[in-house]
Amino acid sequence: MKVISDLNQPTLVDRSLAAVWHPCTQMKHHESFPLIGIKKGKGAWLYEENGNALLDCISSWWTNLFGHSNPRINQAIIHQLEKIEHVMLAGFTHEPVVELSEKLAALTNGNLGHIFYASDGASAVEIALKMSHHFWQLDGKPQKKKFVCLENGYHGETLGALAVTDVAIFREAYGSLLQDVYTVASPDARKAKVGESAKDVAKHAAAKLEKLFEKEHQHIAAIIIEPLVQCAGQMAMYSPEYLRLVRDLCNRYEIHLIADEIAVGCGRSGKFFACEHAGIWPDFLTLSKGISGGYLPLSLCMTTNTIYRAFYSDQTQQGFLHSHSYTGNPLACSAALACLEIFETEKVLEKNIGRSRDLENAFAWAKTDPRIEYWRQQGMILAFDVKSQHLKNPNSFPREMFAKGLEEGVLIRPIGNTIYVMPPFILSAEEAMQMGKAIQRTLEKVLA
Ligand SMILES: Cc1ncc(COP(=O)(O)O)c(C=O)c1O
Repeated sequence: MKVISDLNQPTLVDRSLAAVWHPCTQMKHHESFPLIGIKKGKGAWLYEENGNALLDCISSWWTNLFGHSNPRINQAIIHQLEKIEHVMLAGFTHEPVVELSEKLAALTNGNLGHIFYASDGASAVEIALKMSHHFWQLDGKPQKKKFVCLENGYHGETLGALAVTDVAIFREAYGSLLQDVYTVASPDARKAKVGESAKDVAKHAAAKLEKLFEKEHQHIAAIIIEPLVQCAGQMAMYSPEYLRLVRDLCNRYEIHLIADEIAVGCGRSGKFFACEHAGIWPDFLTLSKGISGGYLPLSLCMTTNTIYRAFYSDQTQQGFLHSHSYTGNPLACSAALACLEIFETEKVLEKNIGRSRDLENAFAWAKTDPRIEYWRQQGMILAFDVKSQHLKNPNSFPREMFAKGLEEGVLIRPIGNTIYVMPPFILSAEEAMQMGKAIQRTLEKVLA
């Protein structure tokens, strides 16, 4: 109950709505849809100001791998804080960034042994695009400067990353600021016709890509893809065959392959790197989100010796002259190191096999619900689509699911008619079941 002196005090949410411009939000929608004030988090749970608990089914925008307020990651950051919080990475180095780079390189068996750091995902994508572009200049092929991306792909919202993003709502207002790119067919397995497999769809998409490469390879620097799952593109999943075919085409036509693993990397797909499902390595691989366990902004672009050697010269301007103030921040790197240690000591990838089965069981109801189609799962990502004829208002469906989900104690953010979960890797079988049941009740309320 409010005491008299509190009555005219604005709440945290009131203050936020007055002063904070929230991301990915039409602020006016908050007149009718809730903004949630979070006071603390523990494990897979977030706690509202009023004490309500919410199960974080989407790992706080796909970042949080080992739960909120994880004691091991907390401790690693505190420990680092007592040594050095930040130092510029140009002309200086420090233990956490070196150790993290060595460990990540080792995870690729040295295939991607040079690592360039930034802070957010979109910046890591910009780095990969710029490095590829610059490489071809250094290689005497300056005409190779166009990028290829996939229909329905998402790589971030800075201007370079947005140019290779094919999600209309994010591009609409900014089209005139964006460079021209080639957008090719997505291998989305939902496109399979009767009698076709996901592998067939992958082959058709690769055949279309080959036609473009055949005709335009002299002008193409790189193709950028999200391996196995186009996450922001409604969790469109596809066969690893596509990765193998694209790798082969890139080799044949001298085109770089950029694997954007910002969402699917760090164990989310079932292996540490999603590319491992296809047994290939790209020329550039970007990571962010889960790499710091959802603690601190950190992103990176890994690349090969061939790319690195091309920039190695006596000429300053031949270097990769790209910088961010917080590049390789020691606190963020120490959080990332704690995450890698958790992966190793707690056998996370092995245990996630059981956790993804728990998820499957928790959402078994959706496999047989006639209002649902395209039930799909890749590692710790599970998604399904609500058939459009059952949606009263497709535009507000995600917001209604979000709002009703809060009443059921779950944090979900459907994309269009796709409901998905992408929980932290600490979820118990009971929590998974709780999540499945709460989302089922939420859907019933929204479709009623
Ligand atoms: C595949 C992919 N690439 C890039 C980004 C952009 O990352 P950030 O939001 O940190 O800029 C995202 C974000 O969702 C993503 O899913």
